[in-house]
Amino acid sequence: MLRLKKGFIVAVVAALFMALAACGKSTETTSSSGSEKETKQKITVGTDAAFAPFEYMEKGKVVGFDADLLDAVMKEAGLDYELKNIGWDPLFASLQSKEIDMGISGITITDKRKQSYDFSAPYFEATQVILVKEGSPVKNALDLKGKTIGVQNATTGQEAAEKLFGKGEHIKKFETSVVAIMEMLNGGVDAVITDNAVANEYVKNNPDKKLQVIEDPDNFTSEYYGIIFPKDSDLKAKVDEALKNIIENGKYTEVYKKWFGIEPNIENLKQ
Ligand code: ARG
Repeated sequence: MLRLKKGFIVAVVAALFMALAACGKSTETTSSSGSEKETKQKITVGTDAAFAPFEYMEKGKVVGFDADLLDAVMKEAGLDYELKNIGWDPLFASLQSKEIDMGISGITITDKRKQSYDFSAPYFEATQVILVKEGSPVKNALDLKGKTIGVQNATTGQEAAEKLFGKGEHIKKFETSVVAIMEMLNGGVDAVITDNAVANEYVKNNPDKKLQVIEDPDNFTSEYYGIIFPKDSDLKAKVDEALKNIIENGKYTEVYKKWFGIEPNIENLKQ
Protein backbone atom coordinates (compact mmCIF):
# COMPACT_ATOMS: atom_id res chain seq x y z
CA MET A 1 0.00 0.00 0.00
CA LEU A 2 2.68 2.44 1.09
CA ARG A 3 4.74 1.37 -1.90
CA LEU A 4 1.95 2.09 -4.30
CA LYS A 5 1.39 5.53 -2.84
CA LYS A 6 5.02 6.40 -3.23
CA GLY A 7 4.99 5.28 -6.83
CA PHE A 8 1.95 7.37 -7.49
CA ILE A 9 3.49 10.50 -6.03
CA VAL A 10 6.65 9.98 -8.06
CA ALA A 11 4.56 9.64 -11.21
CA VAL A 12 2.59 12.82 -10.49
CA VAL A 13 5.74 14.80 -9.77
CA ALA A 14 7.37 13.49 -12.94
CA ALA A 15 4.31 14.42 -15.00
CA LEU A 16 4.31 17.89 -13.51
CA PHE A 17 7.96 18.30 -14.37
CA MET A 18 7.43 17.20 -17.91
CA ALA A 19 4.52 19.56 -18.35
CA LEU A 20 6.60 22.43 -17.00
CA ALA A 21 9.52 21.58 -19.27
CA ALA A 22 7.22 21.46 -22.27
CA CYS A 23 5.85 24.88 -21.31
CA GLY A 24 9.30 26.39 -21.17
CA LYS A 25 10.21 24.88 -24.49
CA SER A 26 7.20 26.10 -26.36
CA THR A 27 7.72 29.72 -25.32
CA GLU A 28 11.40 29.54 -26.17
CA THR A 29 10.91 28.22 -29.63
CA THR A 30 8.05 30.44 -30.79
CA SER A 31 10.41 32.04 -33.27
CA SER A 32 11.00 28.80 -35.13
CA SER A 33 7.31 28.03 -35.46
CA GLY A 34 7.11 30.35 -38.44
CA SER A 35 4.42 32.50 -36.85
CA GLU A 36 4.49 36.14 -37.84
CA LYS A 37 4.89 37.54 -34.37
CA GLU A 38 8.26 36.07 -33.56
CA THR A 39 9.51 36.31 -30.01
CA LYS A 40 13.12 37.30 -30.31
CA GLN A 41 15.40 35.37 -28.06
CA LYS A 42 18.52 36.91 -26.65
CA ILE A 43 21.57 34.87 -27.54
CA THR A 44 24.13 34.55 -24.78
CA VAL A 45 27.73 34.82 -25.92
CA GLY A 46 30.58 34.01 -23.55
CA THR A 47 34.13 35.35 -23.50
CA ASP A 48 37.26 35.66 -21.37
CA ALA A 49 37.86 39.39 -21.36
CA ALA A 50 41.54 39.35 -20.37
CA PHE A 51 42.90 39.11 -23.89
CA ALA A 52 43.43 42.58 -25.34
CA PRO A 53 43.07 43.64 -28.09
CA PHE A 54 40.48 40.89 -28.74
CA GLU A 55 38.48 41.25 -25.53
CA TYR A 56 39.05 43.18 -22.33
CA MET A 57 37.01 45.08 -19.79
CA GLU A 58 36.59 48.84 -20.04
CA LYS A 59 34.17 50.70 -17.79
CA GLY A 60 32.35 47.47 -17.01
CA LYS A 61 31.93 46.55 -20.67
CA VAL A 62 33.61 43.93 -22.83
CA VAL A 63 35.41 45.76 -25.64
CA GLY A 64 37.90 44.77 -28.34
CA PHE A 65 38.17 43.42 -31.85
CA ASP A 66 36.05 40.36 -31.03
CA ALA A 67 33.35 42.49 -29.38
CA ASP A 68 33.09 44.73 -32.47
CA LEU A 69 33.24 41.80 -34.86
CA LEU A 70 30.51 39.98 -32.91
CA ASP A 71 28.35 43.09 -32.97
CA ALA A 72 28.75 43.43 -36.74
CA VAL A 73 27.98 39.72 -37.28
CA MET A 74 24.92 39.71 -35.04
CA LYS A 75 23.52 42.92 -36.56
CA GLU A 76 24.03 41.43 -40.03
CA ALA A 77 22.29 38.23 -38.95
CA GLY A 78 19.49 40.16 -37.20
CA LEU A 79 20.17 38.41 -33.91
CA ASP A 80 19.80 39.90 -30.45
CA TYR A 81 22.64 39.01 -28.10
CA GLU A 82 24.45 39.65 -24.86
CA LEU A 83 28.23 39.30 -24.49
CA LYS A 84 29.26 38.05 -21.05
CA ASN A 85 32.71 37.88 -19.47
CA ILE A 86 32.70 34.43 -17.88
CA GLY A 87 36.37 33.39 -18.02
CA TRP A 88 38.28 30.91 -20.19
CA ASP A 89 37.72 27.50 -18.57
CA PRO A 90 34.06 28.25 -17.68
CA LEU A 91 33.51 29.27 -21.30
CA PHE A 92 34.04 25.71 -22.51
CA ALA A 93 32.09 24.18 -19.63
CA SER A 94 29.16 26.54 -20.32
CA LEU A 95 29.14 25.58 -23.99
CA GLN A 96 29.05 21.90 -23.03
CA SER A 97 26.11 22.46 -20.68
CA LYS A 98 24.52 24.85 -23.21
CA GLU A 99 24.27 27.57 -20.58
CA ILE A 100 25.61 29.84 -23.31
CA ASP A 101 24.77 29.71 -27.01
CA MET A 102 28.14 30.64 -28.42
CA GLY A 103 31.56 32.04 -27.58
CA ILE A 104 34.03 34.50 -29.06
CA SER A 105 37.38 34.77 -27.35
CA GLY A 106 40.28 34.57 -29.79
CA ILE A 107 39.59 30.83 -29.84
CA THR A 108 41.79 28.85 -32.18
CA ILE A 109 40.01 26.27 -34.31
CA THR A 110 41.75 22.99 -33.50
CA ASP A 111 40.96 19.39 -34.47
CA LYS A 112 40.71 18.47 -30.82
CA ARG A 113 38.16 21.18 -30.05
CA LYS A 114 36.25 20.31 -33.21
CA GLN A 115 35.47 16.92 -31.67
CA SER A 116 33.40 18.61 -28.94
CA TYR A 117 32.31 21.92 -30.46
CA ASP A 118 31.38 23.53 -33.76
CA PHE A 119 33.23 26.53 -35.13
CA SER A 120 32.33 29.31 -37.55
CA ALA A 121 34.49 29.91 -40.59
CA PRO A 122 37.86 31.40 -39.57
CA TYR A 123 37.88 35.15 -38.87
CA PHE A 124 41.49 35.86 -37.83
CA GLU A 125 44.93 34.43 -38.51
CA ALA A 126 47.30 34.22 -35.55
CA THR A 127 50.37 32.38 -34.30
CA GLN A 128 52.06 31.72 -30.97
CA VAL A 129 55.03 33.86 -29.95
CA ILE A 130 57.39 34.07 -26.98
CA LEU A 131 57.31 36.98 -24.59
CA VAL A 132 60.51 37.57 -22.58
CA LYS A 133 62.21 40.38 -20.72
CA GLU A 134 64.43 42.60 -22.82
CA GLY A 135 68.00 41.27 -22.89
CA SER A 136 66.87 37.66 -22.34
CA PRO A 137 69.20 35.06 -23.90
CA VAL A 138 66.15 33.40 -25.49
CA LYS A 139 66.23 33.99 -29.25
CA ASN A 140 63.89 31.21 -30.47
CA ALA A 141 61.58 28.51 -29.14
CA LEU A 142 64.31 25.90 -28.74
CA ASP A 143 66.20 28.25 -26.40
CA LEU A 144 63.35 27.72 -23.92
CA LYS A 145 64.66 24.22 -23.15
CA GLY A 146 65.24 23.92 -19.41
CA LYS A 147 63.42 27.18 -18.71
CA THR A 148 60.04 27.68 -17.06
CA ILE A 149 57.29 28.74 -19.42
CA GLY A 150 54.06 30.49 -18.44
CA VAL A 151 50.89 29.86 -20.45
CA GLN A 152 47.18 30.40 -20.08
CA ASN A 153 45.61 27.08 -19.06
CA ALA A 154 44.14 24.95 -21.86
CA THR A 155 45.25 27.22 -24.69
CA THR A 156 47.16 26.59 -27.88
CA GLY A 157 50.08 28.32 -26.09
CA GLN A 158 50.09 25.43 -23.60
CA GLU A 159 49.81 22.95 -26.47
CA ALA A 160 52.74 24.55 -28.30
CA ALA A 161 54.91 24.45 -25.17
CA GLU A 162 54.03 20.80 -24.49
CA LYS A 163 54.71 19.84 -28.09
CA LEU A 164 58.21 21.26 -27.81
CA PHE A 165 59.20 20.17 -24.32
CA GLY A 166 56.59 17.66 -23.12
CA LYS A 167 54.17 18.05 -20.22
CA GLY A 168 55.53 18.81 -16.78
CA GLU A 169 56.53 21.23 -14.07
CA HIS A 170 58.44 23.45 -16.48
CA ILE A 171 55.11 24.61 -17.92
CA LYS A 172 53.17 26.78 -15.50
CA LYS A 173 49.50 27.27 -16.25
CA PHE A 174 47.57 30.40 -15.32
CA GLU A 175 43.95 31.45 -15.45
CA THR A 176 44.61 34.27 -17.93
CA SER A 177 47.47 35.34 -20.19
CA VAL A 178 47.74 38.58 -18.24
CA VAL A 179 48.39 36.66 -15.02
CA ALA A 180 51.04 34.57 -16.82
CA ILE A 181 52.76 37.76 -17.98
CA MET A 182 52.60 39.26 -14.48
CA GLU A 183 54.19 36.10 -13.14
CA MET A 184 57.08 36.57 -15.57
CA LEU A 185 57.49 40.17 -14.43
CA ASN A 186 57.70 38.86 -10.86
CA GLY A 187 60.35 36.32 -11.85
CA GLY A 188 58.06 33.29 -11.44
CA VAL A 189 58.58 32.09 -15.03
CA ASP A 190 61.27 32.82 -17.63
CA ALA A 191 59.00 33.30 -20.62
CA VAL A 192 55.36 33.31 -21.69
CA ILE A 193 53.97 31.68 -24.82
CA THR A 194 50.83 33.40 -26.04
CA ASP A 195 49.09 34.66 -29.19
CA ASN A 196 51.04 37.20 -31.27
CA ALA A 197 48.58 40.10 -31.30
CA VAL A 198 48.10 39.78 -27.53
CA ALA A 199 51.85 39.79 -26.82
CA ASN A 200 52.35 42.77 -29.14
CA GLU A 201 49.52 44.69 -27.52
CA TYR A 202 50.91 44.07 -24.04
CA VAL A 203 54.37 45.27 -25.01
CA LYS A 204 52.92 48.35 -26.72
CA ASN A 205 50.76 49.26 -23.70
CA ASN A 206 53.48 48.61 -21.12
CA PRO A 207 56.73 50.13 -22.39
CA ASP A 208 58.00 50.52 -18.82
CA LYS A 209 57.95 46.72 -18.35
CA LYS A 210 60.70 46.33 -20.97
CA LEU A 211 59.50 43.15 -22.65
CA GLN A 212 60.17 41.80 -26.10
CA VAL A 213 58.28 39.51 -28.47
CA ILE A 214 60.10 36.66 -30.22
CA GLU A 215 58.59 35.12 -33.32
CA ASP A 216 59.54 31.63 -34.42
CA PRO A 217 57.63 30.49 -37.51
CA ASP A 218 59.68 27.26 -37.63
CA ASN A 219 58.19 26.12 -34.34
CA PHE A 220 54.87 27.96 -34.23
CA THR A 221 52.48 27.51 -37.13
CA SER A 222 49.47 29.57 -38.25
CA GLU A 223 46.26 29.31 -36.23
CA TYR A 224 42.81 30.59 -37.11
CA TYR A 225 40.25 31.98 -34.69
CA GLY A 226 36.63 30.98 -34.98
CA ILE A 227 33.39 31.68 -33.15
CA ILE A 228 32.53 28.58 -31.12
CA PHE A 229 29.18 26.80 -30.65
CA PRO A 230 27.93 23.73 -28.88
CA LYS A 231 27.85 20.80 -31.33
CA ASP A 232 25.08 20.95 -33.93
CA SER A 233 23.96 24.47 -33.03
CA ASP A 234 21.65 25.96 -35.64
CA LEU A 235 23.33 29.33 -35.02
CA LYS A 236 26.43 28.27 -36.94
CA ALA A 237 24.84 28.61 -40.39
CA LYS A 238 23.43 32.07 -39.60
CA VAL A 239 26.71 33.30 -38.17
CA ASP A 240 28.73 31.93 -41.09
CA GLU A 241 26.44 33.64 -43.58
CA ALA A 242 26.67 36.97 -41.72
CA LEU A 243 30.44 36.68 -41.34
CA LYS A 244 30.81 36.06 -45.05
CA ASN A 245 28.65 39.09 -45.82
CA ILE A 246 30.57 41.48 -43.58
CA ILE A 247 33.88 40.27 -45.00
CA GLU A 248 32.52 41.00 -48.48
CA ASN A 249 30.85 44.34 -47.72
CA GLY A 250 33.85 45.95 -46.00
CA LYS A 251 32.51 45.98 -42.43
CA TYR A 252 35.09 43.39 -41.35
CA THR A 253 37.88 45.55 -42.83
CA GLU A 254 36.55 48.57 -40.95
CA VAL A 255 36.62 46.74 -37.62
CA TYR A 256 40.04 45.25 -38.36
CA LYS A 257 41.52 48.64 -39.20
CA LYS A 258 40.06 50.17 -36.05
CA TRP A 259 41.95 47.67 -33.87
CA PHE A 260 45.07 46.89 -35.86
CA GLY A 261 45.57 50.04 -37.91
CA ILE A 262 46.27 48.07 -41.09
CA GLU A 263 44.31 46.37 -43.87
CA PRO A 264 43.45 42.73 -43.17
CA ASN A 265 44.59 39.99 -45.50
CA ILE A 266 41.13 38.68 -46.33
CA GLU A 267 42.49 36.07 -48.74
CA ASN A 268 43.93 34.19 -45.74
CA LEU A 269 40.45 33.63 -44.36
CA LYS A 270 39.09 32.15 -47.56
CA GLN A 271 40.71 28.76 -47.28
N1 ARG B 1 44.10 31.32 -29.26
C1 ARG B 1 44.41 30.61 -28.06
C2 ARG B 1 43.55 29.39 -27.94
O1 ARG B 1 42.53 29.30 -28.54
C3 ARG B 1 44.26 31.48 -26.83
C4 ARG B 1 42.94 32.13 -26.69
C5 ARG B 1 42.75 32.77 -25.34
N2 ARG B 1 41.65 33.67 -25.37
C6 ARG B 1 41.24 34.38 -24.32
N3 ARG B 1 40.27 35.23 -24.46
N4 ARG B 1 41.81 34.21 -23.16
O2 ARG B 1 43.84 28.48 -27.22
